[in-house]
Amino acid sequence: MAVTFKVFRYDPDDGRGPYFQDYEVQNVTGMTVLEGIFWIMENLDPTLAFRCACRAAICGSDAMHINGQYRLACKTQIDRLQAPITIRPLAHLPVQKDLVVDMQPFFDNYKLIKPYLIPKEKAPEKEYLQSPEDRKKIDHHIDCILCGSCYGSCPVAYGDPKYYGPHALLKVLRFIDDSRDGADKERLAMVASEFGVFRCHTIFNCKEVCPKDLNPTGAISRLKNKILAEKFPILKFLAR
Ligand code: F3S
Repeated sequence: MAVTFKVFRYDPDDGRGPYFQDYEVQNVTGMTVLEGIFWIMENLDPTLAFRCACRAAICGSDAMHINGQYRLACKTQIDRLQAPITIRPLAHLPVQKDLVVDMQPFFDNYKLIKPYLIPKEKAPEKEYLQSPEDRKKIDHHIDCILCGSCYGSCPVAYGDPKYYGPHALLKVLRFIDDSRDGADKERLAMVASEFGVFRCHTIFNCKEVCPKDLNPTGAISRLKNKILAEKFPILKFLAR
């Protein structure tokens, strides 16, 4: 069976501007979209640029817009999609070539929220210990692979590149919920700021597209509640 791939092409150096190119991918049974793209590169067009690494939905480097939704190309089976398969790069980030975007603005926002442990106590001699019960509290946030699907799908990130974005805000809650972290107040003050959680319009796109089934929308709502509970003691019950 053959399937048509309509692939976004753009080379800033050729003066042609962006366009879509059709490729007939042969023998697609059992293939993922990423394997289809590799097939194009190996058999039809070695100039096609794309990014990938682990091919196992762990590294997050092959997130792209496939048939109307942000997905990981290595996790998307061709036979689950309707032909033709239309592929675009992640949105809201500058395209470097074809399906490759510059992730710098995405990681710049991420760095702002201090995505690392700020310990409560003096460093122990050996290691920070955490009980299984406390570890469970971060289960829901820790699997983020920073693929950028949520960021690409968020209309607020489109309108305001300074908005921290769902990927960064989810990470803030991951550290607030971590029993070893002691910077709750600093983190909440950070995300209560102009480009933080109150920019989110609860659109749910980020939750919808997350390839790891995480819930940035829920995380952002919890952060909003925590901020309100801190500001207005009568709303203390919101701070869960
Ligand atoms: Fe964007 Fe997700 Fe909020 S899509 S507006 S961060 S709920």
